Amino acid sequence: MNALSDILKPEAPEDYDAVEMLAETAFGPGRFARSAFRLREGVMHEPDLSFTFHRSGHLVGSVKLTKILIGDDEALLLGPLVVAPECKNEGVGAALMFKAVEAAKNAGHEAILLVGDFDYYKKFGFEQVNHGQIKMPGPADPARILMCPLVDGAKEKFNGVAMQYAKT
Ligand SMILES: CC(C)(COP(=O)(O)OP(=O)(O)OC[C@H]1O[C@@H](n2cnc3c(N)ncnc32)[C@H](O)[C@@H]1OP(=O)(O)O)[C@@H](O)C(=O)NCCC(=O)NCCS
Repeated sequence: MNALSDILKPEAPEDYDAVEMLAETAFGPGRFARSAFRLREGVMHEPDLSFTFHRSGHLVGSVKLTKILIGDDEALLLGPLVVAPECKNEGVGAALMFKAVEAAKNAGHEAILLVGDFDYYKKFGFEQVNHGQIKMPGPADPARILMCPLVDGAKEKFNGVAMQYAKT
């Protein structure tokens, strides 16, 4: 990373369009059919717990956290995490991940759920959920349903169907 021109900060309203463009480039229209998208659809994410990475004045990375319910219990859903193609493999994704996990923990949340590659997310504290313990609202490979417990006992506590927190 180039410390002189790199800025990692909470997402601001003026970032929204650039964040959307990054997601469009990375995932295309298929992102709207993803299980995780269904949990976020129509729900405002948590701007204080969502971060953007700017390099030389350009937004090149984004991660969002959104409140969800797992059964009756409140948790956070992480995603999308996206980094501009020209900045991949330079630690931008890791910087965003460490920041988001730390912020969620400091804000008193108990767990973060995501659907993604365990091999990438394990270094940020994510663990594979026992098969069947948490169900997504659409198709999801059980091996990709991951949780980062932020308090003792969270991995055992969260059970059931992941649902939208609330419609805005
Ligand atoms: C996944 C993504 C966010 C990673 O961002 P990044 O800034 O390139 O990641 P980092 O620089 O922190 O880490 C790079 C390392 O992670 C590895 N990595 C990247 N994607 C991976 C994956 N899906 N599974 C396992 N390892 C992965 C890289 O090979 C690299 O390994 P190395 O450090 O041993 O060389 C980025 O590639 C991206 O935006 N991809 C498209 C969108 C996407 O798939 N998002 C995740 C949705 S689940």
